Amino acid sequence: MPETHDAVEVIVTKRNKAALSDEQIDWVVDAYTRGVVADEQMSALAMAILLNGMDRREISRWTTAMIASGERMDFTRLSRPTVDKHSTGGVGDKITLPLAPLVAACGVAVPQLSGRGLGHTGGTLDKLESIPGWRADLSYDEMMAQLESVGAVVCAAGSTLAPADKKLYALRDVTGTVEAIALIASSIMSKKIAEGTAALVLDVKVGSGAFMKNLDDARELAQTMVDLGRDAGVTTVALLTDMATPLGGTAGNALEVQESLDVLAGGGPDDVVELTLALAREMLLAAGREEVDPADKLADGSAMDVWRAMITAQGGDVDADLPTARERHQVLAPSSGVLTRLDALAVGMAAWRLGAGRARKEDPVQAGAGVVLHAKPGNTVKEGRPLVTLHSDDERRFARAEQSLEGAFDIEAPAGPGATGAPAPRDVILGRLT
Ligand code: URA
Repeated sequence: MPETHDAVEVIVTKRNKAALSDEQIDWVVDAYTRGVVADEQMSALAMAILLNGMDRREISRWTTAMIASGERMDFTRLSRPTVDKHSTGGVGDKITLPLAPLVAACGVAVPQLSGRGLGHTGGTLDKLESIPGWRADLSYDEMMAQLESVGAVVCAAGSTLAPADKKLYALRDVTGTVEAIALIASSIMSKKIAEGTAALVLDVKVGSGAFMKNLDDARELAQTMVDLGRDAGVTTVALLTDMATPLGGTAGNALEVQESLDVLAGGGPDDVVELTLALAREMLLAAGREEVDPADKLADGSAMDVWRAMITAQGGDVDADLPTARERHQVLAPSSGVLTRLDALAVGMAAWRLGAGRARKEDPVQAGAGVVLHAKPGNTVKEGRPLVTLHSDDERRFARAEQSLEGAFDIEAPAGPGATGAPAPRDVILGRLT
């Protein structure tokens, strides 16, 4: 069959700031998936979209075309309601690990199709793969069986969901076009809608460690995704959350698993607990189970029981020691006072350079590598005492990791007479959109 459009015509339309027609969008997404539109042509179109944007109709159509490029899953035959959570990605963002078993312990099924990390944000699968024996690749039947029996599953998204997005995301990654709001929103939502969840809670990160550096952009991205979800019949709500400083006290794979275990055991850092509970409450509300208090399920150990069942079902040894890095290096506080800033992006870069993340998708990651923070903004630090500890199997990585922390923190001198004291703790949750 002859092609109904050609790539140059579509690129020129967007280059000239006009809206793409439904037919142009359907054709270009399909033709790119089939290999008829070349990577260099899609790169030019992605850049034109980044520079000139897409309106709501275009984004909605683009999302539908990406969904149509693959299969759709169906959770309707499960005996419990389903709800999913998606985070736009941040440093130290281990929330999926305690959250999925916690919400399942409240009687709701949580399918979490996740990815591996690229760049400075860690991937949920990389974190879980630090547990000896755990496997990310499940068949559709295994996933469904685990959702029914355990209630929670975190596994790799198969290649059949929105394959157009898979191809386009890899291209955007190497062409400086990741940050386009229209493309991020359609990329995330095409996968979530194709996955077939009935309800979705979005955690849209704001700050240096996130895609969206300021609140206005984050709000626009969140609203775009909420609208796409609603148009597709998925109950969708978004929280805007702080990513100016890392979440919790660790960034790295096994280090973050350990911190998640602390949360499931009823402890853990305040910000991780606060965000986990806030997202759990939103998920339960979206699933119609708001009468259950997730804090009770953390306190009574039932979330931990689901964690153990969830990890065991995927071959993981819940009683095995987590891997640790061979080498450690401390970065000391250069002065005494109150830590007023600790930059998320810098910590993420340090963890990445230590071996916790990858530069290319085929690179291996070190399970034990990462950064342990000894203070968070608002805490008092003492000159010469450790501020962060770097972990890696390879001590040659410490110098470059330390470089990424240069200028990454501010320490204010001890309060003198008339000083107001330590800054108020930062809010983790900055907004909510429906
Ligand atoms: N995550 C995605 O899945 N897609 C994007 O475009 C950005 C983040």
